[in-house]
Amino acid sequence: MNFERGTTNRAREISLKWISENLTDSKEVISLGLPEYDDRFDAWRVPLHHQNGKKVHLGEIKLNNQAESIVGFTEVSLIKERIKKIKDHKPEKAQKRRKTLFQPAAIPNQVILGNSLNVLSDFPPDTAQLVFTSPPYFNAKPEYSEYVDYQDYLDFMGEIIKKCHEILSEGRFFIINTSPVLIRRTSRNTSSRRLAIPFDLHVIIEKMGFEFIDDIIWAKPEGAGWNLGRGRRFKADRNALQYKPVPVTEHVMVYRKKTDKLIDWNLRNHHDPQLVEDSKILGDYDVTDIWKIHPGHSKIHPAVFPDELAKRVIQYYSFKKDLVLDPFGGTGTTGRVAQKMDRRFLLIDNEIRYFHHMKNYFEQLEIGGRVDFDIHESFQIK
Ligand SMILES: C[S@@+](CC[C@H](N)C(=O)[O-])C[C@H]1O[C@@H](n2cnc3c(N)ncnc32)[C@H](O)[C@@H]1O
Repeated sequence: MNFERGTTNRAREISLKWISENLTDSKEVISLGLPEYDDRFDAWRVPLHHQNGKKVHLGEIKLNNQAESIVGFTEVSLIKERIKKIKDHKPEKAQKRRKTLFQPAAIPNQVILGNSLNVLSDFPPDTAQLVFTSPPYFNAKPEYSEYVDYQDYLDFMGEIIKKCHEILSEGRFFIINTSPVLIRRTSRNTSSRRLAIPFDLHVIIEKMGFEFIDDIIWAKPEGAGWNLGRGRRFKADRNALQYKPVPVTEHVMVYRKKTDKLIDWNLRNHHDPQLVEDSKILGDYDVTDIWKIHPGHSKIHPAVFPDELAKRVIQYYSFKKDLVLDPFGGTGTTGRVAQKMDRRFLLIDNEIRYFHHMKNYFEQLEIGGRVDFDIHESFQIK
């Protein structure tokens, strides 16, 4: 294919002419992006942007493989609608520009016993450079559940996510491990219910100011989910419509705190370029979004995630010396692994048993930095 400058210029000229003929009233606000050859469709594509500084995408013009004639374009009415939407949109207050290089808050490793809803409010912006957590499951303890109903649970999660957003550094990652939950049937005449927790949380996470990046599938070996009982009926009766697969996957949902800055900015703006260099992931890595990892087990906690999962998340989404926050710390998997990987940690859990478990573990460690243990003033024994 001919990629010479003449072809790109021709694509531009033809596109500009099309704009002045079809979008006469709006041509001042439209600018052209870089014309590119799309080998899948054997055609040239010229992106159309709004000139409002942020280059919002308005549509595109498609030309034949010599960039000599137009073979397609975004509907004119759609382009006009998009321009109108931008005009009607009130600009958000300009974000304060950082003048200095990024410096994480100087906070030691901490394990705190308390309700994250209260504890997180004590921390300033730039406390955490990564959040990695797996939330309490709605209905995990039906006999003394803390939530009035599922909506109450989602509201609670929304509050936690909002607070995580406030103390996470700009452009950094919020990663949450979840899976749908089964609500067992209450009698022979009712059916069980599956709550799509990952999808319901997704809407909330975006609303709280995060940008969706990835949905990584954590795949466990076959057989891992049989104890849930799902799929047994179908295995026996084989009726259509009764099919239910045994769940052997969980979601590792990856979000970035919304910013107009590229990830490159996070790399370049770091106060210590050597730490960025030392945090490079060399050698083998997970090329795809399916991570095969065995489940975790604990004698004292029913729902731990495996060290290996925390290891992968921490290495891909943080730099050395960053602080990793887990607002639902459990047995402290996130902190244990973070410390081994030369990161700092902040772990919060509202169960006294898990707090003591974490305290015992970190106190017995001979090496590793200082760890503070704290019982939050709002904490009350249940
Ligand atoms: C799924 S577990 C996390 C397990 C952890 N990832 C591990 O590997 O050990 C969720 C944890 O959240 C804690 N939790 C529930 N509600 C909380 C709240 N409001 N504040 C702090 N922790 C809470 C529970 O006690 C539980 O240990």
